[in-house]
Amino acid sequence: MVTEQQSELSEAQIAVHWREEEYDFPPAGFVAQANAADPEIRTRFAEERFPECFTEYADLLSWDARWQTTLDTSNPPFWKWFVGGRLNASYNCVDRHLATDRNKAALVWVPEPEADGTVAVTYQELYRRVNEFAALLRDFGRLRAGDRVTFHLPMVPDLPVSMLACARLGVIHSQVFGGFSGGACGERIADSGSRVLVTMDGYYRNGELVDHKVKADEAVARAAELGQPVDTVLVWRRHRGQYASRAPMVTGRDVFVDEVLRDYRDAVVEPVSMPAEAPLFLMYTSGTTAQPKGCQHSTGGYLAYVTGTSKYYQDIHPNDTYWCMADIGWITGHSYIVYGPLSLGTTSVLYEGVPTYPDPGRPWRIAERLGVTIFHTAPTAIRMLRKLGPDEPRQHDHHFKHMTTVGEPIEPEVWRWYRDVVGKGEAVVVDTWWQTENGGFLGATLPALEPMKPGSCGPGVLGVYPVIYDEHGDVVPAGSGKAGNICIRNPWPGIFETIWGQPERFVQIYYEKYCRNPDSTDWRDWPYFAGDGAVQAADGYFRILGRVDDVINVAGHRLGTKELESASLTVEEVAEAAAVPVIDEVRGRAVEMYVSLKPGVTASEGIERKVAQAIDTHIGKIARPMHVWIVPDMPKTRSGKIMRRVIAAISNFGDVGDTTTLSNPEIVDSIRHHVQAEKLARGQTPRQLTPQEADEIRKFGNAE
Ligand code: PRX
Repeated sequence: MVTEQQSELSEAQIAVHWREEEYDFPPAGFVAQANAADPEIRTRFAEERFPECFTEYADLLSWDARWQTTLDTSNPPFWKWFVGGRLNASYNCVDRHLATDRNKAALVWVPEPEADGTVAVTYQELYRRVNEFAALLRDFGRLRAGDRVTFHLPMVPDLPVSMLACARLGVIHSQVFGGFSGGACGERIADSGSRVLVTMDGYYRNGELVDHKVKADEAVARAAELGQPVDTVLVWRRHRGQYASRAPMVTGRDVFVDEVLRDYRDAVVEPVSMPAEAPLFLMYTSGTTAQPKGCQHSTGGYLAYVTGTSKYYQDIHPNDTYWCMADIGWITGHSYIVYGPLSLGTTSVLYEGVPTYPDPGRPWRIAERLGVTIFHTAPTAIRMLRKLGPDEPRQHDHHFKHMTTVGEPIEPEVWRWYRDVVGKGEAVVVDTWWQTENGGFLGATLPALEPMKPGSCGPGVLGVYPVIYDEHGDVVPAGSGKAGNICIRNPWPGIFETIWGQPERFVQIYYEKYCRNPDSTDWRDWPYFAGDGAVQAADGYFRILGRVDDVINVAGHRLGTKELESASLTVEEVAEAAAVPVIDEVRGRAVEMYVSLKPGVTASEGIERKVAQAIDTHIGKIARPMHVWIVPDMPKTRSGKIMRRVIAAISNFGDVGDTTTLSNPEIVDSIRHHVQAEKLARGQTPRQLTPQEADEIRKFGNAE
């Protein structure tokens, strides 16, 4: 709650009331085998050793040419790491393990249908497949280093094979989450300028063979509308030799990969030696404006960073069986399913489907059968598995040494279930805070050396120095109990290089706010603005409170309000649209849409359905709103801007606050009555918001 006195503070300084949780210490068995067990490691990464400390990460890689400059700051904030160095990411993730680990499984693929056996892809087999597909991309796809290729692939081994084949050629891959719509994929194709799309005919999800190729046609059409022709669509087949889609293959454009690959049997492609700062891939993420941002990640800095953090924070050893249940279509999957684990030569598990299919015991059966030692997932999945199968983990004989959580704040209650029931008290839990833009972890505990604290990610990771600033750029001190904007004071090797094609936006969104001197080439003048609210306890641990911009984090995935609103506005009858977050017990946050209609149009369920459908089509099912509310008008400021915080408060049964500045205050009661009565009638009884949740809702969309 905000007291009189605190209400005079700036937004960023709102006091946060939460109970300080007790420390929890890692099991002795974990500590005994940990990669980072010597406290000296903190000294090696102390600030006075920056940036040279990161050579320790770069030295985990095999370089064709060693770098001359560890960090080049001559053109801030476009930092360059390991300048002069040359390497190939595919060589580092595949070839270099052949001498010792040729017959070890690099990937273990678990198809969703349980009757289908798991498929192990050894490092030797991965080498063969990556080489053959690289030859196909080069000779059939006519792709060269620096070209972009868009993938729209599900969770199948063909996805890491495709990524590593691009990396082998220096071709920049851009994987679009398979659950995204064809339209969303098309926009990313156009933005990245890809003329080749790699897709799959179908995949299993929740027991159904989903027709996926149909989205490729929509994607190509959308990209063409935006001025980007796609001349080649490479279609992997879920079942070799069978076609799972209703969409016809387009002659001259579409080919089945398995057929074309016959021409490249046993082809060997020399890995292209790339400069450290050459882009490895693009990963699109949502931001404050309608257009998704293509985060450009580098080859050397990125690979060094994910390898180092996989070693010390994920505690990956070559003989582990590591399972990250994320989708490779998100940054977590790129960094911590593919690049980090494979660079370390471990076995990485890929699961095709839904964690609760066919029942919430599925993940624990997989873990038991495969002997998974490290498990990595998101709070949303943990909440869902806890809700549907609270005792399931007890029925299985799996044993984790290490468990990660990522993507959203985790409630201490849920954290404890994860540790006690999923981890059986045997595993260390590492809460990792970071973002698509960051390449790898920013805040986390070193698992053998720093105690865990439920609900807090911990201190800045090795070589990363976070700080909390208020709106004026003053430091909010640790232990003050006040929240502010978490920033990182220094560059690190995993930071993205720019927003693809939009360097001005890159500077403006992430650096302008707290830059002390735009002419300075000293990194100390360029703190990175993460866009998250956070509070730092006296012990230096950070607790992340959520986004401070108009982004809604649904199940760990960032959805831009503007994207949701633009999609709604494609419905002919809709005049105005506003997206707000609602607290959701499983997904963290869910989306509710408010729309007002054009004059003369009558509200109907049909229009509500059309809005939901438009969001499915433009973004994907992940963004589907929980409710679409048709309202006679939006609450607006006198300058005509929609006050999202007022409708967000209504959706969450929170306090709407001061509405006297609205041009139409009378509308608030009418909307509240309509929305809340309907929710109560549907049995959606509200629970009391926690003070942090109330804060978040109160600040939502406050840019207006
Ligand atoms: O708000 C933070 C939240 O997720 C955002 C980043 O989302 P995305 O780019 O999709 O990347 C997700 C996985 C790296 C952050 O700005 N977030 C991420 N991890 C945590 C978190 N919030 C609290 N605790 C975390 N561990």
